[in-house]
Amino acid sequence: MRIIPSIRHLLCATAMVAAAIAPGAEGGGGHSRSESKRAILLVAFGTSVGEARKAYDHIERLARDRFPGQELRWAYTSSMVRRKLAKAGTPVDGPLTALARLHEDGFSQVTVQSLHIVAGAEFHDLAEEVALFRGRIPRLGLGLPLLATYEDLDRAARATLAAVPAERRPEDAILLMGHGNEKHPSDLAYLAADAQFRRLDPKALLGTVEGRPNADEVIASIRSSGAKRVFLLPFMTVAGDHARNDLAGPEAGSWASRLKAAGLEVVPVLKGLGEYDPIVAIWLDHCAQVQSQSE
Ligand code: CO
Repeated sequence: MRIIPSIRHLLCATAMVAAAIAPGAEGGGGHSRSESKRAILLVAFGTSVGEARKAYDHIERLARDRFPGQELRWAYTSSMVRRKLAKAGTPVDGPLTALARLHEDGFSQVTVQSLHIVAGAEFHDLAEEVALFRGRIPRLGLGLPLLATYEDLDRAARATLAAVPAERRPEDAILLMGHGNEKHPSDLAYLAADAQFRRLDPKALLGTVEGRPNADEVIASIRSSGAKRVFLLPFMTVAGDHARNDLAGPEAGSWASRLKAAGLEVVPVLKGLGEYDPIVAIWLDHCAQVQSQSE
């Protein structure tokens, strides 16, 4: 006889807790209350190069303008970069920790936006980590990296070429450096990117640090093109370590040094793709797509 009231009491308490966890979920909560439960987690490889952070700051500013009222947080997928930053006293979470915190803080809609270039190894690892929070964070989505469709590639390639300084003459070559990974199927996206750059500009081409086309291939192409001057640009979210060392660095093995040794004049343009508005718009379009699907 005493059991029935206590069960009723318990059910009542459970309903109150549920209401407190999900304000607005049934349409009963205030507007601002439900908005404060939405978050975007921006996920990049990460960089420990202070100057390269500019690209992330720029992305964050544009994301804030496009998605006002939503919490913005960051996570870096590179554990090596995270360790370096933690040592320097400026720690950044990995995706798992960031998602756990968002869950803990009661966010009911979280959009994880990849700031990677292709759906490579880093993106696939991220997708697995996001999947662990399905059913825990009620509305959880994952936005695709920069190059998800042909249209994305076309927009990205045009925006990158538009960033080449006006002093470039039509006979000068433009060489883009992507990251690449010869052990991952996503590497083929870089061959597509190379083809698209060449279609848009007969003197533009793309190579990668760790995949195909490789440095030997692009340097041979430039030498046979007859160009005397070449503009070097990273095709990466930030102009970090690869851009500053492998692309434009003074070491004998850098692309700049190899091209100079072949008699070419080199003009490095050390800006990451995250510094260009039309490119950031592609990532943010992916984020908006995911949010509109979960509404
Ligand atoms: Co690398």
